[in-house]
Amino acid sequence: MPHEFAPHTAVGGIIAEPATRPETVAADAVVVFLTEGGVGAGAAAEVDRATGGLLTKLVAAGDIAATRNECVPLLSPPGMAAGQLLVVGLGKREAVDAGVLYRAAATAARQLAGRARSRIAFVADGWWATRQVEQAVAGAAVGMVGQDLYRTEKRRTPFQATLWLGAPPEAVTVGATIAAGVNLARRLVNTSPDDLYPQSFADEAAAVAGRTGMEIEIWDEDHLARERCQAILAVGRGSSRPPRLVLLRYRGAPRAAEDAQPTLALVGKGVTFDSGGLSLKPSDSMLTMKCDMAGGAAVLAAAATIAALRLPIDIVAAIGLVENMTGPAAYKLGDVITARSGTTIEVHNTDAEGRIVLADVLDVVRGLAPRRIIDAATLTGACMVALGHDVAGLFANDQAVCDDLATAARAMGEPVWQLPMYPDYDEQISSDVADIKNVGDGRWGGAITAAKFLERFVGGIPWTHVDIAGPAFAEKPKPWTDGGGTGAMVRPFVELARGMC
Ligand code: BES
Ligand code: MN
Ligand code: ZN
Repeated sequence: MPHEFAPHTAVGGIIAEPATRPETVAADAVVVFLTEGGVGAGAAAEVDRATGGLLTKLVAAGDIAATRNECVPLLSPPGMAAGQLLVVGLGKREAVDAGVLYRAAATAARQLAGRARSRIAFVADGWWATRQVEQAVAGAAVGMVGQDLYRTEKRRTPFQATLWLGAPPEAVTVGATIAAGVNLARRLVNTSPDDLYPQSFADEAAAVAGRTGMEIEIWDEDHLARERCQAILAVGRGSSRPPRLVLLRYRGAPRAAEDAQPTLALVGKGVTFDSGGLSLKPSDSMLTMKCDMAGGAAVLAAAATIAALRLPIDIVAAIGLVENMTGPAAYKLGDVITARSGTTIEVHNTDAEGRIVLADVLDVVRGLAPRRIIDAATLTGACMVALGHDVAGLFANDQAVCDDLATAARAMGEPVWQLPMYPDYDEQISSDVADIKNVGDGRWGGAITAAKFLERFVGGIPWTHVDIAGPAFAEKPKPWTDGGGTGAMVRPFVELARGMC
């Protein structure tokens, strides 16, 4: 089992070699990046010179187009010590950004990790900004890790050593730390739901907190009851595995701000398996429902990364952990739950469980008076109907918070799109017998009515909800990543926190 953020593996054999030259490096392969339209003047030109103009010839012959994520392996390249030169396309130079580099490096690493290799050298180009180097480093470290947790014969073998030539050491450390976060979130999502349930997720969180210097509280059933978290408890009642709430704190702000409110609160949906409860899902829709804790995983991973980077910011992260099952005590349709805030919720569908869990988690966090709240949740299939598999939905009560997050996400190459929160939608969640009901009228606008439900529990604190039902889990592989958990929103959350420092 990998140990993300463990001191000795924190940078996972990822080493900066700012002064080593690509033609002399002893490595199984050297990865060089190339933009469309010729070798130009940077690292690719250097490799071109060392190989007697090989790249120029291949570009002229049309054998290398350098479109995004194109990988052309050249075996036994002349003039080079390495056994292979892998030329990776970046597309048009003016469109290269941190997100493009993340994916290109990940694509190269994923391909090379298809068999065991000990040393791979990547060449960072001199014109890349620091953020771009960081994201390239992160991408390479994410791409080499596959979906192999339970496979006897692994399809990907992480490199023993990854060398980054021409890269500033600080950027390499930051990139490797970010990758540890993304890979942590991916591993948690990919873990079998029989192995990852509320208590075992909490144990993972405790281990990560210990390694990164976060404080952690784990609320068990008794503690949840004392805290009046009846919404979390209700959803958890159908399972033999009791619910938990994980509360993480990292205090990095300069201590002049003694006891200041946390600047940022991250909240995650941690439904370790969503059967739908008594509103049982059809079998086909249930298969991937181990991914329903991806918001919680993203929040844990982002908090851990922020702490590991020692960012000067105070944050809190809260994760509501339940298994939504159909056991004899399961919550029922028509049940009325009094959430921690006092708001009463009429249950119309036990498969709309995420919002019920988050009602209490948001209320706990609201009580800590953070300056802003961001939650991540695989909340609705409706969000995927609206935006597809790859785009996360944003919903906000505060445009500035939403814009900051959208900017951070786009800078990382993770697409997001905001959906409206018109007051008229509120009518759809009004209940005949309680303050609100847990679904809208019919399925139209289902991602928005879910967000409207959450809004009731943030007490007016500036807040953005991210529905990651689509991007959290890839049913099929992409050139830059194996299928399964993607680590969606980990990099945007870290980027957002960096922007707030
Ligand atoms: N966890 C699901 C949403 C989901 C669907 C996530 C597909 C990832 C992929 C959520 O708990 C759910 O079941 N939502 C229902 C809500 C409905 C009953 C109002 C849905 O989207 O169908
Ligand atoms: Mn559900
Ligand atoms: Zn769910």
